[in-house]
Amino acid sequence: MSSPTPPSVPRIRPRGRPVVIAIDGPAASGKSSTAKWVAQSLRYRHVDSGSLYRAVTAARERLGDSPESWTEPSVLAVTSTVSLQPTDHSFIPLLDGELAEAEIRGSKVTREVSRVARMPTVRNWVNEEVRRVARGHDVVVDGRDIGTVVFPDADLKVFLVADPWERAKRRLVQRYSRKPSDAEIAEETERLVQRDSKDATQTVQARDAVLIDTTYLTQTEQVDRIVALARAVTARPGDTSPVDDQ
Ligand code: DC
Repeated sequence: MSSPTPPSVPRIRPRGRPVVIAIDGPAASGKSSTAKWVAQSLRYRHVDSGSLYRAVTAARERLGDSPESWTEPSVLAVTSTVSLQPTDHSFIPLLDGELAEAEIRGSKVTREVSRVARMPTVRNWVNEEVRRVARGHDVVVDGRDIGTVVFPDADLKVFLVADPWERAKRRLVQRYSRKPSDAEIAEETERLVQRDSKDATQTVQARDAVLIDTTYLTQTEQVDRIVALARAVTARPGDTSPVDDQ
């Protein structure tokens, strides 16, 4: 006689379907670095969806005209020059077939990327690219709307938040590899809060996401928590090491 499954028992994914772990949250909440380490721990591939918006922005900037004149079709047209290349642990964007990491992460792109990320046809293109690469691999995808729009059926959804001051401090430590002054942190906090408001419409916590406030967590603690959650939700009956057979 079978009894109903209690709600606390993790969902069992069908054998064979690739796993999707969605990590969303605001700028500098630690999504990308955490997602990268989670992917490495689980031997999944990391997809940074923000890097695609950045790559499209960089591609459009290469045309040289003022961002104020960018129309949505003209931005959508340059998506044909952007592709995602698989590496051991990730998919990384290529621009015209080449790595352009410095350009993609540079201040010019950072200034204009929200404008591009608000364009619905560009969002559709990014979402389809991410879904396409996730068809063949277990993935950890980070972004703003992964758990709500891109993968509403993700196996695990995590929404990371952190105090803006802490986010600003982390960002500066990463950028300068030194302890920033309070004045520098205050300035960066202001910038982050402005970016949060520009990206607010897209940054949505799914109702079934696990909320993790990372303000007082180390990177290792964040990664360990998410890996433990992932192992729980991807466990199969009889598995001793649920994610090692990918
Ligand atoms: O996380 P990031 O700073 O690299 O993101 C770059 C931009 O892309 C930022 O404006 C937010 C936007 N973005 C988005 O709208 N949806 C996503 N899934 C990922 C990023």
